[in-house]
Order: sequence, then C-alpha cells, then structure tokens
Amino acid sequence: MIDEEIELDPKRYIVSETDEKGKITFCNDYFIEVCGYSKDELIGKSHNIVRHPDMPRVVFKLLWETIKQGKNINAVVKNRSKDGRYYWIFTEFEMRKDIDTGNIIGYQASRKSISKHVIEIIADLYSKLLEIEKNEDIEASEKYLITFLKDKGDDIEFSTIMEEIHRFY
Ligand SMILES: Cc1cc2nc3c(=O)[nH]c(=O)nc-3n(C[C@H](O)[C@H](O)[C@H](O)COP(=O)(O)O)c2cc1C
Repeated sequence: MIDEEIELDPKRYIVSETDEKGKITFCNDYFIEVCGYSKDELIGKSHNIVRHPDMPRVVFKLLWETIKQGKNINAVVKNRSKDGRYYWIFTEFEMRKDIDTGNIIGYQASRKSISKHVIEIIADLYSKLLEIEKNEDIEASEKYLITFLKDKGDDIEFSTIMEEIHRFY
C-alpha cells in the first residue's frame, strides 16, 4: 500500500451512482481511472470500497440521514484508491428519483478536486472528529461538529459550510 496523494485533474468530475442502499450501479471513466478498481470490481459493491480510514464516521452518518430525507448534501471526502493512495474531493450528493412515481431510486455523487488550503482546514477538523470517535463515541463527535458549525453562524448546516469553505478558499 502506498500512502501518497493522487493529483486530480481540476477539470474532470468523478461521478458515481448507487441504489438506495449505497451499492454502486454506475461510475464514470474518471472514477475508474482514479480509484484503480475495474468496472467489474465496482458495480454491485458497497460504496465504502473507496472509504479511507481517516474519514470520521459522523460525516457518513450525516450524509445518510440527509439524503434519506430526500435532501441533497455536499461534503469534503478523503477517498482511498486500490493501491492505498488517497485523494480529497468536494462531493455533491443528489437523489435519483423515479420519473413516474417520484420515489427515490438511488443517489448520485459528483466530485471535484479542491485546493490545498481547503484540504488543510478539513483535514484538521476530520482528524479531531476521528480522535473523538476513537476515544469516546460518535455522539461526542457529532456534538463537536455541531459546535464547530454553530461557531460559524446560528443556522448554518454542514453542507453550507462545506460549500463556503470550498468556494472562498
Ligand atoms: C451516491 C453515494 C456516493 C458515495 N460516495 C462515497 C465515497 O466516494 N467515499 C466514501 O467513503 N463513501 C461514499 N459513500 C458513502 C458510503 O455509502 C458509506 O456510507 C461510507 O463509505 C462509510 O462506510 P460504512 O457505511 O460502511 O461505515 C457514498 C454514498 C452514496 C449514496
């Protein structure tokens, strides 16, 4: 395993789609190129196949709670490729709905590269959350995250913070 950062092409999106449970149903060419798995290795697998151990669990808890309610969310995510290398991305999660019934049939994620400065801010926050999850539990980590968000403004959501940090730095 190599612990190195993958340089991403800022012009290309890394896209994937899942069913309602988070099993991969589609990934674009750039997704396959960056993560190093073949299409066959990805389709039908749980999306945690690219999960990096540095990612705090609370981020995915928040992600699933939000998209299951039918709301879109953005998050900065660190992923791991097949050979152990990592890449940081700004991810927009969206629902996929059945045109006829309007029911949620799955989700889509669209990812772009982010600046080194954003990575520094988020890496600091995530390592703190991870430490809390190791020493205490996910509830304590969620409390820390909520306090972090409250410090930024009264009614600010996780998604908004992620977007603002991404846009302004
Ligand atoms: C559309 C979509 C895309 C996702 N993309 C990623 C991703 O790129 N990296 C990741 O670690 N988790 C991603 N997830 C979240 C995973 O489903 C999973 O919750 C997460 O990896 C944590 O793993 P765990 O739920 O087994 O603890 C995605 C979920 C959805 C619905």
